[in-house]
Amino acid sequence: MTSHPHALENDPVIILDFGSQTTQLIARRVRELRAYSEVVQYDVKASDLQKRRPSAIILSGGPASVHEKGSPQADPQVLELGVPVLGICYGAQWMAQTLGGVVKPAPHREFGRAEVDIKEGSDLFGTLSAGKHPVWMSHGDQIERLPRGFEVLAGTPTCPVAAMGYRSRKLYGVQFHPEVVHTPIGRDLLESFLTRIAQAPRRWTMVDFITQSVARIREQVGEGRVVCALSGGVDSAVTAALVHRAIGDRLTCVFVDNGVLRQGEVDRVRQVFIDVFRIDLRVIDARERFLTSLKGVVDPEEKRKRIGVDFIGVFDVEADKLTNVTHLAQGTLYPDVIESVSHKGPSAIIKSHHNVGGLPKKMKLKLVEPLRELFKDEVRTLGEELGLPRSLVRRQPFPGPGLAIRVLGEVTAARVETVRQADAIVQEEVEAAGLTDHLWQAFAVLLPVKSVGVMGDSRTYEETICVRAVTSEDGMTADWAWLPRDVLQRISTRIINTVRGVNRVVMDVTSKPPGTIEWE
Ligand code: XMP
Repeated sequence: MTSHPHALENDPVIILDFGSQTTQLIARRVRELRAYSEVVQYDVKASDLQKRRPSAIILSGGPASVHEKGSPQADPQVLELGVPVLGICYGAQWMAQTLGGVVKPAPHREFGRAEVDIKEGSDLFGTLSAGKHPVWMSHGDQIERLPRGFEVLAGTPTCPVAAMGYRSRKLYGVQFHPEVVHTPIGRDLLESFLTRIAQAPRRWTMVDFITQSVARIREQVGEGRVVCALSGGVDSAVTAALVHRAIGDRLTCVFVDNGVLRQGEVDRVRQVFIDVFRIDLRVIDARERFLTSLKGVVDPEEKRKRIGVDFIGVFDVEADKLTNVTHLAQGTLYPDVIESVSHKGPSAIIKSHHNVGGLPKKMKLKLVEPLRELFKDEVRTLGEELGLPRSLVRRQPFPGPGLAIRVLGEVTAARVETVRQADAIVQEEVEAAGLTDHLWQAFAVLLPVKSVGVMGDSRTYEETICVRAVTSEDGMTADWAWLPRDVLQRISTRIINTVRGVNRVVMDVTSKPPGTIEWE
């Protein structure tokens, strides 16, 4: 079967990337507006761009200054194609300088919230009212003199050219970042630019993403075979479902039971992948191995390290048994890509995150990472579109090292079982109260603390469960969440009554920072 170009690949919104951390966020905003976008490196030739028949071009921000030697310079002809262009931050400065304006270091570098004053009658802002609006600024340079033909569309007291435009040529630039959530008018601005100014088609859906990814995976894998490690989490599950859609039984999934999984996890994974999807799934019982190597270990980093090493060991052995495997599929998401490049050097490592992604380097398999450009909520939508059950797709995050990092102190089979039962109760009650979607995570931690209690007529001296519930946008920062009193009451009563060895339940009221979400 030949894969023919999809109709949507005509008239894309092209995003020229000048190396900004938010470039993929721009792409995501464009997808939210249901337009089709492609991210292209800044140095693409204008003639090549023209062949793609773009409906609009967005120039991303970037960390450089247009004055620096070697700063990224796009082909100036990009501005002469007759295609509407929106420059953001560095992109706007590059546009201004290229067209004869002047860019200078700002007298006051601005990082963070600012208020722009939108001028009356500015077409870039669509239906937004003139006047003051909060935006997110992050720049050291600013446009000091406009290029010929441009007018100021918005300003701040310290940044007179916060937005500029040349209406008849459909060239626009903004100094602030419309793609971030801290710029509430950003969505309206992008919508106005894409819809009214550029008339970009808005018919993109997740179904198109699937069609396109399937074609790409088929092309990449060719006649090869793919192995994918499932973790029970959303990302690896969606990756597997998507790769399976592309190459069917040439995909084999491996699921390692490491002894520190949540309650019912093995059955849940089997049910979805074997019974529903009929994927070739190998479930490996490696509980002994993991628990043996965790014996006597109390240091959180050491736990993480050992689990990582064991995982590679088990996975390697399993993958070796498969013949002709050429590729490894991984559920890397865009925030993972960003996090792994921005955390350089040992000083930045707070916890050595482990998930099934990025591990078996020595296997010499080529990587298939179909979710690399997506954000978590998009992956959930994609999963539902692929037919994965909502209960799996809407699941809260669960760390790669599993319950081992929620058992403080030594990890033994008995202590894991204690936290597993307590965790199942927290999950059930939070779900029953309809709170799952409102919380980033809610779970139980077993503390290395014994305290005195009284049950019936006897004195007890037993362990402590801590309930941790947080809200968060992305896991990078989090607020502790107030669970309703009746929910807490049921959680506490059920844990004390049914989980052997626990006589006290406490609640964690620490946000992140200063606390991390997981205790280890
Ligand atoms: P922390 O504890 O660093 O956690 O505030 C932030 C988010 O990441 C999850 N987490 C992990 N996820 N592998 C993962 O895949 C890991 O090693 C890991 N450690 C923490 C955590 O559950 C929270 O959602």
